[in-house]
Amino acid sequence: MESFTIRLSLPEFVARWKASTLTERAAAQSHFIDLCEVLGQPHPAAADQTGDSFTFEKHVSKLRGSKGFADVWKRGYFAWEYKGKHRDLHAAYLQLADYREDLENPPLLVVCDQDRFEIHTNFTGTAKQVYSFTLSDLQSPLPTPNCALPPLEVLRSVFTAPEQLKPDRAALRVTEQVASEFGALALSLRARGEDPEQAAHFLMRLLFCLFADSIGILPEHVFRKMIELNAGKPTSFSRQLKQLFTAMSTAGNNFGPFEIAHFNGGLFGDDEALELTALDMGTLRKAAALDWSNVEPSVFGTLFERSLNPDKRSQLGAHYTSAEDILLIVEPVVMAPLEARWAVVKAEATAIATSAVSSKGATYNKLRDQMQAKLYGWVEELARIRILDPACGSGNFLYLALKRMLDLWHEARLFAAEHGLPTVLPEMVHPSQLYGLELNTYAHELASVVVWIGYLQWLQEHGMGVPTEPILRKLNNIQHRDAILAHGSEGRPMEAAWPVSDFIIGNPPFLGDKRMRAELGDKYVTELRTVYQGRVPGGADLVTYWFEKARALVEAGQAKRVGLLATQGIRGGTNRVVLERIKNTGKIFWAQSDREWVLDGAMVHVSMIAFDKGGETETVLDGLSVAEISAALTGGIDLTKALRLRENDGLAFIGDMKKGSFDVSEDVATSMLHAVGNPNRLSNSNVVKPFLNARDITMRSRRKWIIDFGEMDEAEAALFEAPFEYLRVHEKHHRDAVCNPLERARWWQHGRVAREMRAAIHGLRRFIATPRHSKHRMFTWVNSEVVPDSALVVFAREDEYFFGVLHSQIHELWSRRTGTQVRDAESGFRYTPIVCFDQFPFPWAPGKELQDDPLVQAISHSARELVTKRDAWLNPPDATPEELGKRTLTNLYNKYPSWLVDAHRSLDEAVFTAYGWPSTLTESHILDRLLALNHERAARDA
Ligand SMILES: C[S@@+](CC[C@H](N)C(=O)[O-])C[C@H]1O[C@@H](n2cnc3c(N)ncnc32)[C@H](O)[C@@H]1O
Repeated sequence: MESFTIRLSLPEFVARWKASTLTERAAAQSHFIDLCEVLGQPHPAAADQTGDSFTFEKHVSKLRGSKGFADVWKRGYFAWEYKGKHRDLHAAYLQLADYREDLENPPLLVVCDQDRFEIHTNFTGTAKQVYSFTLSDLQSPLPTPNCALPPLEVLRSVFTAPEQLKPDRAALRVTEQVASEFGALALSLRARGEDPEQAAHFLMRLLFCLFADSIGILPEHVFRKMIELNAGKPTSFSRQLKQLFTAMSTAGNNFGPFEIAHFNGGLFGDDEALELTALDMGTLRKAAALDWSNVEPSVFGTLFERSLNPDKRSQLGAHYTSAEDILLIVEPVVMAPLEARWAVVKAEATAIATSAVSSKGATYNKLRDQMQAKLYGWVEELARIRILDPACGSGNFLYLALKRMLDLWHEARLFAAEHGLPTVLPEMVHPSQLYGLELNTYAHELASVVVWIGYLQWLQEHGMGVPTEPILRKLNNIQHRDAILAHGSEGRPMEAAWPVSDFIIGNPPFLGDKRMRAELGDKYVTELRTVYQGRVPGGADLVTYWFEKARALVEAGQAKRVGLLATQGIRGGTNRVVLERIKNTGKIFWAQSDREWVLDGAMVHVSMIAFDKGGETETVLDGLSVAEISAALTGGIDLTKALRLRENDGLAFIGDMKKGSFDVSEDVATSMLHAVGNPNRLSNSNVVKPFLNARDITMRSRRKWIIDFGEMDEAEAALFEAPFEYLRVHEKHHRDAVCNPLERARWWQHGRVAREMRAAIHGLRRFIATPRHSKHRMFTWVNSEVVPDSALVVFAREDEYFFGVLHSQIHELWSRRTGTQVRDAESGFRYTPIVCFDQFPFPWAPGKELQDDPLVQAISHSARELVTKRDAWLNPPDATPEELGKRTLTNLYNKYPSWLVDAHRSLDEAVFTAYGWPSTLTESHILDRLLALNHERAARDA
């Protein structure tokens, strides 16, 4: 970006324009050019000589507005209108607003009378925000009550980065500052030894008063004035505070000349006010300088809590549970069924309205009453919904759920207005529908305040003013207690009770099993485990207790739907038992299996899980519709629906099943191979061959050999004297004892010679093999003279492209999901050719790929690279036998060094490209696409 030297200082600018008595026309361009110089910005003629994108007097259609041009305009940044000093800025704004379409809808509309500036945001799809300040404010580095960001910073953003002024960004900045100032106050009270509960309660009162003062529920900024007037007089402030609290606690009171609304509720139940110090008054003044109406309730609590903890103060500006993340749970769990219900009600009410249009008199009145009854019935239903967050912290989940329910309620109100029904509905969604449990004193106090602030903000944003008095009702629903463990008479530990609710949502504490005793104490953990014995396994994480309690309530019909967040460890180990129990009595209908999340500044992975008793018909995993969600939160993409692909026929086989001691050591094999004089004049190498089983692949080769007569009859086999004799001595007596008559009769032949496999690999230089059971799905090349054991799956292809696709992430994922697990995913899984291979859709039907196609060649190249590197690692030239013993494929894949990661990544990318898919697809998306491709190919086969 081009930047100009600052030629006018800010104080000079302020002084010059404060003194100005110039008219609008005389002042406008000079004022703007001066401002450009203060900000080090080029003025319009310097930046754009054509006036195409930055100009004074930008003309607009003369047919509409009165003046026909905007004083200054910068494309994509702002339109700017000047007025004479002390003239009506609102009129100037209306004029700009009228022109905005012709001005290409700039994101900011600025009006200015030389002294006062108003920046109105005009971003599409966001709430409007106004930043107002004067020349004097420009010299303060702080935001002001009318300007959520420092004024000079706002002006800079107008010229260089309008998006910085988007309302949500500004709200977050204010919220961070507000939380920080209040955190400092809390720490000061704590340092003076104030009782934490009293201190929390007191701070919440101050906090609420500042908010009420900002949005005008307290008149004439009386609270801010009180702070200003008592800046150096904390005792006097305390005294006045008590008077104010008294006035707020009952109806019909005055505070000085002002009428004070009746607030009441738990928050203003008495006049208790703690003493503050002069230093505290300074902090309070800083907090009062901010525009509290913009505080973002969904993050305020978390930030405030952080500000209380010296270790976490540095994270004030760091990540917090964003509204977006919370809504990810609230939408499917709470809103989806309510919206579906509203859609039905609305459709029915609309049908009645349609009939009413063509009716008259009594019929019309009757239909109108019916429509009203339907709508009111729905509103009453909505106002009876109860939401519980059993680890509610500072109430962020509850607040957002309330806000969304209010939005839905508002739709009913709009519907009423559209159809001529009274818009004063009989019931309203209200904070009293929210229930919370919380152990932490501050968080608990905050939860109610956050919810009320959010509620009052919503009312204001929707032009509904202030609720009827008392403005705050006491919310006993948000309780300060342990959510999982209680103690009965005589201190007997017992399960804590939860209020009956429709929806349970939240983010219960993350605490791994290993840290539970250290953090919660032996006694607590022992009691907890005893109380939940048989329901939550001993080694499970703390969060699982919330899952199990919620499950039990759903089972008992005391809750309908649950959506909870946990670290992704919930889906594995002992934790998973809890999810299995959920599946036994209900259904996991929605989940995010693995989502990145920042906890205390560190990146963690979380899972979000929603369940019910089994009523929900939609099942969605990671945003995709699936048939089922497993307790491991894996795809229920129903791969059992995959079909056999004829194009894959004749390529994959289970290896040879010897059924006896046909394998011999290298020494025995060598002596047979050196033996001469067979009556058929043939070498024993025709029947003594290298042998390979799964261990030879996962570990190192044992250098075993095998006597393999294939399907020769006895007379023919006997002509290979030494091997035949060896079997007669070592094997025949075993075979004589087996039940299978064929195996008894053909004792020199293997139990199952895998005839088709032999035919398929005949003539190939090499083939591909993979163990049927293994922890890592690995594929290797095998020379074609080797006899593969039945513990291997053999692929009759000798080209690197095919090897590459088999070894890709895409095939591995498919084979893991279609194959079966041996014990758990950690100890291994089974590769079953009829599902893992026969149904797997390759990028091209096997045999149809063109080896000179660059896509095929890219895969071949990566596969070759992978094998070359792997072989070099497995067999370093000067390694000792001991070192070689450790160089196994299993050890390599356990270690998964960076070079191997890179090699697989490049192979995966080549395979993704061949499919024409982005390599960023989630597992569910990959499986979804593979299944679709399988169906497409199967249909083509048919
Ligand atoms: C991960 S936080 C979630 C808070 C908030 N929803 C958020 O997203 O920031 C978990 C909350 O559970 C509370 N908590 C921990 N153990 C609890 C217990 N046994 N009973 C009730 N609340 C508990 C903690 O104090 C904390 O506020």
